[in-house]
Amino acid sequence: MSEHSNIQFLFEPRSVAIIGASSSEDKIGYKIQRNIMEGGFRGAIYPINPKGGDILGVPSYPSILDIEGEVDLATIVIPAKFVVRAVEECAQKKVKFLSIITSGFSEVGNWAEERKIVEIAQQNGMRVLGPNIFGIYSAETSLNATFGPSDVKRGGVAIITQSGALGIAMIGKTKIENIGLSAIVSVGNKSDLDEADLLQYLLRDEATKVILMYIEGVKNGERLVEALKQVTKKKPVIAIKSGRSKRGAMAAASHTGSLAGADEIFDAVMKQCGVTRAETLEEALNWCKFLSTSPAPRGENAVIITNGGGIGVLAADACEKYGVNLADDPETMKEIFEEVTPDFGSIKNPVDITGQAMAQDYEICLEAAFKHPAVDSIICLGCETAVLDVERLTESLEKVHREHGASKPAVLSFFGGQDTENSIVHLRGQSVPIFLDVYDAVSCLGAGYRNYRNLKDAQTKVEDVFDPSVVDIERIKGVIAKVRAAGRTFLLAPEAQEVMIAAKMPMPQSKLARNLDEAVQFAEAIGYPVVMKIVSKDIIHKSDAGGVALDLLNKGEVMDAYEAIMHNARAYDPSAVIDGVEVVEMVKSGTETIIGARRDESFGPVVMFGLGGIYVEVMKDIAFRALPLNRAEAMEMIKDIRSYPLLLGVRGEARKDIEGVIECILKVGTILQYCEDITDIEVNPLVAYDQGDGVRAVDVRILLSKSAKGDHHG
Ligand code: COA
Repeated sequence: MSEHSNIQFLFEPRSVAIIGASSSEDKIGYKIQRNIMEGGFRGAIYPINPKGGDILGVPSYPSILDIEGEVDLATIVIPAKFVVRAVEECAQKKVKFLSIITSGFSEVGNWAEERKIVEIAQQNGMRVLGPNIFGIYSAETSLNATFGPSDVKRGGVAIITQSGALGIAMIGKTKIENIGLSAIVSVGNKSDLDEADLLQYLLRDEATKVILMYIEGVKNGERLVEALKQVTKKKPVIAIKSGRSKRGAMAAASHTGSLAGADEIFDAVMKQCGVTRAETLEEALNWCKFLSTSPAPRGENAVIITNGGGIGVLAADACEKYGVNLADDPETMKEIFEEVTPDFGSIKNPVDITGQAMAQDYEICLEAAFKHPAVDSIICLGCETAVLDVERLTESLEKVHREHGASKPAVLSFFGGQDTENSIVHLRGQSVPIFLDVYDAVSCLGAGYRNYRNLKDAQTKVEDVFDPSVVDIERIKGVIAKVRAAGRTFLLAPEAQEVMIAAKMPMPQSKLARNLDEAVQFAEAIGYPVVMKIVSKDIIHKSDAGGVALDLLNKGEVMDAYEAIMHNARAYDPSAVIDGVEVVEMVKSGTETIIGARRDESFGPVVMFGLGGIYVEVMKDIAFRALPLNRAEAMEMIKDIRSYPLLLGVRGEARKDIEGVIECILKVGTILQYCEDITDIEVNPLVAYDQGDGVRAVDVRILLSKSAKGDHHG
């Protein structure tokens, strides 16, 4: 794949230049060169320093242009004011990648020089990592071009981090936690290369078993979503993002805008991409370690083995929280555990080998679970008791892990005094996934199961893609052009309706009456009851102006309402230009839902769904997804809201027309995706009837950007 081969020499350079290499031990240029050398990099190393001479025993060059061989990667560690010049020389030298450590660019408002660097790079086929980074470590070529710790432990975890300091700290932390790294890359200001580019390499890198991203802000969300969807079909991705607490920094142009802050959208989009979001660094690292070393489960049946009922129930609670399913077939449980559990124990799940259990009992019971094909994963727990010899137990657990640990995932948690805690430290050092807290143990297994389901879905789920040509985009663009010509950035009701008709959204019948006779004629044609609404670009809040009449049952009521609406409108705003009165089919009551769509600063077009009334207004019970969306993703989105059971039908009610809702979500999304001028769409309410009876988009608001954007496709 071309993107892969493009990025390959960043992770696997054959030669590295250090622009700003130094013999002064306290300088970053010195540390980077020392790390590259001590890390055992096998390619050529070219220190660049105007003074010349040897640096750490390697002859230096006054300029990169003096090097004879090719340079795949140039690490730049000189003050900001010299960087552009150095980048120009790298371009001349045809360097492939730049890793710009130097700070002092866009992060402090110096956009001009950062843009200049990217411009030079783009014109010369170079790619830029940073600036404002600690560098890159890649196990594949034993390259440690960072100024972090020099001894990195190798393994299966790749880390992409936007925070430099945290990234450097993670190198140290992973080492003491016995977590091996395949790569760690600092992306800093993301002037050019970002997570999406790096993921292309890590997706195909055999050594990388799990990817951890520390994100502060997303710049090019649409590309990131595409890359993540691809990666999570092959390997797990864990995200940790700061800024969870900041809500709603966005302009509240519509419900969709005011209901969710950037963090809620990030959360929803990560879920859509199959990425697991960690709350804390500790959780993220626990998951990384587990996922990079543990075998994947082959099925959903987990078994808890415990010597105490209380801790077993805690684990069962944790299983529910983290999506771990407990095996519950009594016959199978009996077959596996009857012989290895005391008579007064329990062979239901959690399997209770009782407080009398000794190390030997754990060993036998665990072996039975490991060996039986009906057990897919194991949660082994214990409380320190007087009969439990912790030293023997430690030996037993180590033995079982050594002999069977590679066959199926197992997590452990033991609770007790100093002996138990010492045992845990020892076992963790032996790569046994054992934790002080039951929840930490189960959350790791939960992460394993999320990955298991992602991979399974990738193999089995048919991507039921929505055909965007259902929506007549040209007709919608025609409507937009008329609105622009009238100098407006919002659509009047008939215009918004035309957009809905062009998208084949199920609408209540409606006609614009220009006089009383037409109003009566249209009402008769549509059928009673009808609703009437004033249509005027000068009257936005129709109800406040007395411009709406509901539930009109006959000709007489229509005539009275027409007169009243006209009278009220003139009184409300005597200068208002009135187009007429809209006569609309009165929609039967059903389950009210809301579909919204808008442009997110990070992820581009996103859609929102929720149930109308208090569910959205009070409970903020909404779900988001990034576009494009397929039917399965739209279904997942609907299932995400807490009030979903209302759509399934509660207390004897029928299931609602969820399929009709899905089609509408996809149509609204398609409009936003293909019409760049539209910033917000809100269908509120979309009334859903019983399954098979369809849905009705009763009201819709559409807003345009301040200035025309032109065409955009997908
Ligand atoms: N080409 C090659 N070498 C050059 C050079 C050039 N154009 N210009 C200067 N140098 C040499 C210097 O002579 C010096 O070598 P010396 O020690 O032999 O004299 C070396 O490069 C470094 O330059 P110096 O001026 O001493 O800079 P510094 O080491 O004090 O600082 C940075 C340079 C990049 C470290 C600093 O500007 C910076 O940005 N620090 C922050 C880094 C950071 O935190 N990044 C983000 C982490 S997440």
